[in-house]
Amino acid sequence: MIDPASLAPAVAVAARAQPERLTNIEGWHEHIPFAFALIALARPSVLVELGTHKGDSFCAFCQAVAELGAGTRCFAVDTWQGDPHAGIYGEEVLAELRRHVEPRYARFATLMPMLFDEALARFADGSIDVLHIDGLHTEEAVRHDFETWLPKMSPCGVVLFHDTRVEREGFGVRKVWQEVAARYPNFEFFHGNGLGVLLVGATPPAALLEWCRAEAGAQETLRAVFRKFGERVRIGRHLELYQSANAELWKRTQQAEATLDGAVRQLADTQKQVGELCLQVGDARTEILRLGDLVAAWEQRAARAEAELAKVLSSRAWRATAPLRRVAAWLRRVA
Ligand SMILES: C[S@@+](CC[C@H](N)C(=O)[O-])C[C@H]1O[C@@H](n2cnc3c(N)ncnc32)[C@H](O)[C@@H]1O
Repeated sequence: MIDPASLAPAVAVAARAQPERLTNIEGWHEHIPFAFALIALARPSVLVELGTHKGDSFCAFCQAVAELGAGTRCFAVDTWQGDPHAGIYGEEVLAELRRHVEPRYARFATLMPMLFDEALARFADGSIDVLHIDGLHTEEAVRHDFETWLPKMSPCGVVLFHDTRVEREGFGVRKVWQEVAARYPNFEFFHGNGLGVLLVGATPPAALLEWCRAEAGAQETLRAVFRKFGERVRIGRHLELYQSANAELWKRTQQAEATLDGAVRQLADTQKQVGELCLQVGDARTEILRLGDLVAAWEQRAARAEAELAKVLSSRAWRATAPLRRVAAWLRRVA
C-alpha cells in the first residue's frame, strides 16, 4: 500500500516545475516534472548524465537542485559531437550550453566533453546516486553503458533509462530495460518515449521504493499524473512558440501597415500633384487655342493685305505711274 503523504511533496514540486531551458530537442521535455520529483525524493549527492546534447534533461536536474537546495553535484558527460541517433552536430552546441549553465549552476554543475568510457575513471566506485543513461540507443551501447557504470552506483543508486518505449530499427533500450527490470525494483513511465527508473542500490530512497512496490492501480494513477504534468510542459512550450510567432507576425503586420500608410500618403500627394498638373495643362491648352485663333485672324488679315497689294500692283494706274516712280527713285539716289 502506497502512503500518499510520502509522495505528496514530490508530486507538488513536479506540479510546480517551470523549466527554464526547453530547446528544440524535445525528447525529454515530458519527463522534466519527474526530474524535479526525483531530486526532491532522492536528494542525491552526485548525479551523472550520460548523453546531454543541448542539455534539456541536464538543465532540468540542475534547476531542480538549485530550486530545492539539494546540494547535488551534477556532471554531464557527452562528446558533444552527436551520434547516429541524435545526429552529428558542431561545437556551437556545447558553447551555447555553457552560456546557459555557467552563470546559473557553475557552483555545482560540470560539463565533461569526453567519451563515457573516458569519464569512468573520474568517478569512484559507489559514488553516484543518480545516473541518467541517454547516450547512443543501440542495445549494445545501452547495455555497455549500464554495465560499465553500475559499479559506480552508491547504495541508494537510481539509474534512469530514456526511450524504453521506442520500438524503432536500431533502438535497443527497451530490450535492455526488460532485462534489468527483471533484476531490480523499478518503475516505468510510458509517455515521452518511456523512462525507466531502476533502483540498483541496496538501500534505495524509501519513497521511490514504495513507488516501485505500489499496487498496479496506484502506479497507474502516478503514471497518469506525471503524463499530465509532462503534457503541460510540452503544450506550454508550444504555446510560447505560437505566442512568440504571433507577436513576430503582429510586429511585421504593423510594419507593413506603416509602409502601406506611407505609400497611401505618397499616392495622395502624387494624385494632388497630378491634379495640379492637369489644371496647368488645361490652362495651357486654352492659351494654345486662344493663340491659335489669334494666328488664324492674323493670317486672314495678311491674306487680305496680300490680295489688296496684288490688286494694286496689277492695276492700270500703278503701271501708268511706273516712270514717275523710277524718276522718284533716281532723284532719291542723286540726292
Ligand atoms: C539522445 S542525446 C541526449 C539527449 C539529452 N539527454 C536531452 O535531454 O535532450 C545523446 C547524446 O549522447 C552523446 N553520446 C552518445 N554516445 C556517446 C559516448 N559513447 N560518449 C559520449 N557521448 C556520447 C551524443 O553526442 C548525444 O549528444
